[in-house]
Amino acid sequence: MSTEIESARAHFPIFKNKIYLNSCSQGALSDAVEASLQEHIRSWHEHGSPWDRWVEEYEAARTAFARFIGAAPEEVAVVTSASAGINSIASALDFGKRRKVVMGEFEFPTMGQIWLAQERRGAEIEFLPAQNGKICPECYSRAIDDQTLIVPLTHVCFMNGFRSEVAPIVKQAHERGALVMLDDYQDCGTRPIDVKALDVDFYVSGALKYLLCPSGIAFLYVRPELISALTPTITGWFAQKNPFAFDVKHLDLATTARRFETGSPPLPHAYIAPAALKLLDDFGREKTAQHIKSLTRALMDGARDLKIKVKTPAESVGPLVVLQMKDADAMVKKMAADNMVVSNRMDGLRVSFHLYNTLDDVHAVLAQLEKNRTLAVVE
Ligand SMILES: Cc1ncc(COP(=O)(O)O)c(C=O)c1O
Repeated sequence: MSTEIESARAHFPIFKNKIYLNSCSQGALSDAVEASLQEHIRSWHEHGSPWDRWVEEYEAARTAFARFIGAAPEEVAVVTSASAGINSIASALDFGKRRKVVMGEFEFPTMGQIWLAQERRGAEIEFLPAQNGKICPECYSRAIDDQTLIVPLTHVCFMNGFRSEVAPIVKQAHERGALVMLDDYQDCGTRPIDVKALDVDFYVSGALKYLLCPSGIAFLYVRPELISALTPTITGWFAQKNPFAFDVKHLDLATTARRFETGSPPLPHAYIAPAALKLLDDFGREKTAQHIKSLTRALMDGARDLKIKVKTPAESVGPLVVLQMKDADAMVKKMAADNMVVSNRMDGLRVSFHLYNTLDDVHAVLAQLEKNRTLAVVE
């Protein structure tokens, strides 16, 4: 193990007892995140209700995330889940002229469900089928037309780790006047992100996976030209120009992306998010991406040597590798009995990598696969 990885891993106490490979569900808890939460608790104990200070921290979280994705703070809403951010945008769109919402069947269920709920407001949802574990840009190209309002697009699929080709899909959507919403929840934190270079209209991610935070905070970026043109009907006092005007009789939405927020912000998380983002930046995001790629290659090569069917497309750079099982649930339990934390979705065993994982972790997974080969689908 390189000394750099070793010292990064030392910030995550779970590795004293377990081999943790489940960042696709929940990132591991670091000492830095724990200390920042303690800091919030300390300020609560000491001052009781220091809301002025807490609101400053919440703005600091917005600024930290905006910097992390190459956006301005005014372009970022701090929300309590990815679903909350997506719902806010869905509520603001008008399905009168353009009705179609085109998305792949690899989206996380919340994405399908939120847009399906808009059918009552006139939306028509078209799901694109996957072929051989992929949904290709041509498939989007055939479906996106001048009736398409928006294309929700998961960057990495939670079920098989497939990585969407964002650039051509964004280009095709924009050429036909459609918007693109990138859901980066299964990748945000594993590599550098430049939301402007991606050229997406909306970018959403929660923080509990590769951003190493607890559940309860997520972020929504909105392209600046769109912010004032969108009026969400899901709203609340923290979406107003001045929440502290306490004006019950007027709806006066902020002119920044804060207009996509609703009620009291997740204040403990406002302390946590900047600490987690700093940890990721201190390690280096390009380095994280390279490290994850090498672990991904090692696991996929090893699984192929064992002739175990890999559901993740062969060229994957991670962070999620999914192996096909006859009984994925039993495999998760077998591994848990040996202090390894992984997860499953349907017939797929999900193994995910972050900066704190090592080649030894990969070897431990391969040893388990070899030992329990009867539970796997073998080619
Ligand atoms: C890709 C993706 N999008 C969205 C979600 C759900 O986000 P939230 O629970 O914050 O609404 C998840 C959760 O696992 C996810 O993996």
